[in-house]
Amino acid sequence: MPLTPAELADRVLAWYADEGRDLPWRRTRDPYAILVSEVMLQQTQVERVIECWTAWLARWPTAGDLADAPVADVISAWQGLGYNRRAVNLHRACRVLADEGVPDDVAGWRRLPGVGPYTAAAVCAICFDHDVIPEDVNVRRILDRALGGASLEPPPGRAHDLTQGLFDLGATVCLARIPRCERCPLADGCPSRGLRFEPARRQAPFEGSRRQARGRLLDRLREGPVPLAEADPEIAAALVRDGLAAERDGVLALPG
Ligand code: ADE
Repeated sequence: MPLTPAELADRVLAWYADEGRDLPWRRTRDPYAILVSEVMLQQTQVERVIECWTAWLARWPTAGDLADAPVADVISAWQGLGYNRRAVNLHRACRVLADEGVPDDVAGWRRLPGVGPYTAAAVCAICFDHDVIPEDVNVRRILDRALGGASLEPPPGRAHDLTQGLFDLGATVCLARIPRCERCPLADGCPSRGLRFEPARRQAPFEGSRRQARGRLLDRLREGPVPLAEADPEIAAALVRDGLAAERDGVLALPG
């Protein structure tokens, strides 16, 4: 028999209680700390985020601390996380949090720079146990496989644990290509049990890409200003457009 959404929620919650990973951002419900973790986790491996998130929170413990920091410092500290525009948006979002206070619903969070439906739902589920489930690709995959794409409502007050349980199940058991169904708490009611999956799409190669060229130029700027004549004009213009660099007197630098 296929699982109902309520059964799926119960099983994931029970599994998470036994098997959940002990990750540092699970020891806080502070909205700023969770925002930082979720923004970092969107494109970056958990292991790398553990290191960066811990150092970040030690350096800037509150949204106000980050808001007061020069954006150049924030961009520098983002080194190694990739997709650097996230750093600029996070800085802008913290200015709004520091000025206007912490929103208490998804609509309020969505008004912050760089905060889309996923991040808004993640913060509200994790910090406030609001009845929403943030759907990243891992969570979506579990719901597609086990519930035929039906949506899931957390039992009242359990959004935090259910969300974290889904993240862990997606990361360690319900893998994209070869799921480990023998370890899955949903297996006996999952219509996709035992199936293998083709990779959905290959990521465009990073080597030689524009993204790599942007990253390289930004890494040089993290070390110091670069004469504009030494930079690819299109890449430099893109960094300026994204708020990651500023040009003055023929020199490119991190924004002041
Ligand atoms: N991926 C996105 N959010 C996550 C979280 N809070 N824990 C682990 N992996 C995640």
